[in-house]
Amino acid sequence: MRSDLILGIETSCDETAAAIVTPSGEVLSSVVASQADLHARYGGVVPEVASRRHLELVSPVLREALAQADADLGHIGRIAVTTHPGLVGALLIGVSAAKALSWSRGIPLVPVDHLHGHVAALWLDPVQIEPPFTCLLASGGHTLVLAVRERERYEVLGRSLDDAAGEAFDKGARLLGLGYPGGREIDELARQGDPDAYRFPIARLPGLDFSFSGLKTALLYAVRDLAAEELERRRADLAASYQRAIVGALTQRLEAAAARSGLERIAIVGGVAANSALRASLSGAALAPLAYCTDNAAMIASAGRYAQALSPSEALDLDAHATAA
Ligand code: KG4
Ligand code: ZN
Repeated sequence: MRSDLILGIETSCDETAAAIVTPSGEVLSSVVASQADLHARYGGVVPEVASRRHLELVSPVLREALAQADADLGHIGRIAVTTHPGLVGALLIGVSAAKALSWSRGIPLVPVDHLHGHVAALWLDPVQIEPPFTCLLASGGHTLVLAVRERERYEVLGRSLDDAAGEAFDKGARLLGLGYPGGREIDELARQGDPDAYRFPIARLPGLDFSFSGLKTALLYAVRDLAAEELERRRADLAASYQRAIVGALTQRLEAAAARSGLERIAIVGGVAANSALRASLSGAALAPLAYCTDNAAMIASAGRYAQALSPSEALDLDAHATAA
């Protein structure tokens, strides 16, 4: 009986997720229970509500991941869990579940940085991408351009100085009266709109950093200037033009970073990497499969293959923290 499988656990925001991955990167199961509907009425994630829901979901999600992989805890050689960055109360549910399993079954535990997890989505079947490459990591809380020289070794070339790209999508969606999370909603609506209808500004900062707050303000003014029925008529054009500005900023910086780092191959990861316009505009890029762009535990298990594991007794001291390492 094999006992080398990796169990990944992810609870950093509003997805309760567990996955089983083999040491070579085959995903045997990836279960994601999204809480988006629960938070939609508030227009964003409510931390305390998220923690309580994780607590209810974590055991059934873990059981489902094992069942779908036709595995039990005896097959698990290591557990990988997101310890940061994220909502502390939410992270603690996953970390506590991981510690309990580790201690009770004597399984080593690997603390995983959520952002490393997003990059490690690229080391999963069916498309495994070998470094070196330049990588855009764009999620709800972070926008980074990375020079990935080896697995688990990368350098930050640029970052957003204010809102993350995902945050710009979410806030833009709210201004347009769309639902939460906003990225997918804008993505869908933009297909019916004209991306040239409005000219939204792309911040031109020196170097490779981003800024999305001016763009958000420009959308606010455009929406404010429209009467209600006109806004209804122009909503798709606004979404398409706003999306074009975000995608333009991301691709421009990514291509400049690739030229500067000399790592010409490009990869994109994180929730915003699910955006269809971004994917279409980077046709030569390595794209993580859609299911592994937005938050999931397969990427956490994947990262857990390369990091140092703690023994079950060392793991008892493990803590969750809100910020990136
Ligand atoms: O990586 P992720 O699932 O969670 C975090 O680590 O934050 O990213 C979530 C972000 C949200 O801001 C969401 O609106 C955005 O990814 N997103 C998208 C799309 N799908 C999710 N943004 C643009 N287009 C999409 N299709
Ligand atoms: Zn994420």
